[in-house]
Amino acid sequence: MSRMIASVLTAMLLAMPGMAFAQQTAIFSGRDLVHPAFGAKGMVASQEALATEIGLNVLKQGGNAVDAAVSVAFALAVTLPRAGNLGGGGFMIVHDAESGENVAIDYREMSGAAAFRDMYLDDNGEADPAKSRFSGLAVGVPGTVAGMALALERYGTLSLAEALAPAIALANDGIEVTADLAQSLEGLSKRLQKWPSSTAIFYKEGGAPYAPGDILVQSDLAASLTMIAEKGPSAFYEGPIAEKIVTAVGDAGGHLTLDDFRHYEVKLREPVTGTYRGNEIVSMPPPSSGGVHIVQILNTLEGVPMSFLGHNSAESIHMMAEAMKVAYADRSEYLGDPDFVDVPIDQLTSKSYAADILSQISRGRAATAAEIGPGDLTPYESHETTHFSVVDADGNAVANTYTLNFSYGTGLVADGTGILLNNELDDFSAKPGVPNAYGLIGGDANAVEPRKRPLSSMSPTLVLKDGKPFLVTGSPGGSRIITTTLQVIMNVIDHGMNVAEATYAPRVHHQWLPDELRVEEGLSPDTVRLLEQLGQKVVVKNAMGSTQSIMVTDEGLYGASDPRRAGALTLGY
Ligand code: DON
Repeated sequence: MSRMIASVLTAMLLAMPGMAFAQQTAIFSGRDLVHPAFGAKGMVASQEALATEIGLNVLKQGGNAVDAAVSVAFALAVTLPRAGNLGGGGFMIVHDAESGENVAIDYREMSGAAAFRDMYLDDNGEADPAKSRFSGLAVGVPGTVAGMALALERYGTLSLAEALAPAIALANDGIEVTADLAQSLEGLSKRLQKWPSSTAIFYKEGGAPYAPGDILVQSDLAASLTMIAEKGPSAFYEGPIAEKIVTAVGDAGGHLTLDDFRHYEVKLREPVTGTYRGNEIVSMPPPSSGGVHIVQILNTLEGVPMSFLGHNSAESIHMMAEAMKVAYADRSEYLGDPDFVDVPIDQLTSKSYAADILSQISRGRAATAAEIGPGDLTPYESHETTHFSVVDADGNAVANTYTLNFSYGTGLVADGTGILLNNELDDFSAKPGVPNAYGLIGGDANAVEPRKRPLSSMSPTLVLKDGKPFLVTGSPGGSRIITTTLQVIMNVIDHGMNVAEATYAPRVHHQWLPDELRVEEGLSPDTVRLLEQLGQKVVVKNAMGSTQSIMVTDEGLYGASDPRRAGALTLGY
């Protein structure tokens, strides 16, 4: 990637009056739907406005997409504490325009050496969510710091200190509390106020909530970020930060050790790839299930005339739901950490397997969950993860999804670090057949084992045409991430929508178990009735996902932040 070429290009554009439009700012977001006359040449879409602005500045100053992405990730750790993080983990897909290479960076959390299969069971042998979600046992060794450092070192041009500087300033100087942040902190006060170390940071004296407009200073977090800027990732994995996290986890009933921190490894993996109607899909491989099942569902639906059936018609939703069910049933059986289990990726993503699946789908009748596989589930709401997308003027692209799992993870800040700790290990299958927080079940492939990564659904995805990215997308939403990302892709490819239309359109979701077709508000009652006639158990529930997407067009970049959650912003220049 050539930073120099980027600045030369910028200089040329500035020098040519006819090209001045390239300097315009394009704003498409949930809070501001102004469509500029021209597409942009560099763009950032994220869940939080300050972080987006920071990423855009990096691009404007000649940084590439990875520089901007890493700066955004660190900024979100300050400005979006419910999901942005140092104490969590995630996945990044990078497209390097110069080499044409696509790479998947796996910085998912890992369990410690003392983890064992039944560690989340109570004395009666039943899965105990309090252990897997809200105790020290829920915490995996965080991957974010190592992941960002590696991304920057291999694909960026900035130093780690440069990429951290904006986040350090925000943590030191304080951020103005937005309505969204105030509401989220107040809503999750029970989770956070269980821990004095968290209460001291995220609430005023006496535990009173911050109001919109108040300033939230995070000095301990600023100190941690500064140490990482000065000493590199070892400051997080070997120094006092690791020691403080190990102590906090131990005090909360967990068993991570300094040795676990020293053993943490980021993994560079081959993305999962597939094709859909002539477009190339590049997405996250295991330990995410996202890429595999997006490709599997797309393969299945490639044999269906989706555009002819029409967007969100009963027939198209029915076919999508049937394809989704099979994918989620396969997920529960075959998917897990590839360093521990052989995931049959080639088979699951093959066109012939998809043809097989399609041949068993009835256009006239919904298969019951029992016909596909057994289970007994309870759904769970209110979690948080965050996705952002970046494209730079050279055509480099980054899709990044990272998380603490729940909003604020365990809710526990490791005292003295300002760092909130994840509860990612709830994504393991605590007991075969017992659902995790997203109603997902699993078996041996995703059983708890020492130093293993729990199975994820996070699906940062690139869609390429002729080797070049034309859609960069991804979403939070637990089990719904896969189907949300899928629908953005299908809305663009099958239904010819622009990126904003593809984002806003009502979504549907089926995950095999529970046996329900979950839909958002906005489907017509006629469609719902027709789906019910086909045997689909339709339930209207909360909005799903919060995509942050960028589309590359002949006129430049267009982007859209999902209006489903407040505070997001897409900016271009
Ligand atoms: O990795 C996963 O699949 C989950 N831990 C993601 C959680 C999530 O998306 C919650 N957000 N809305």
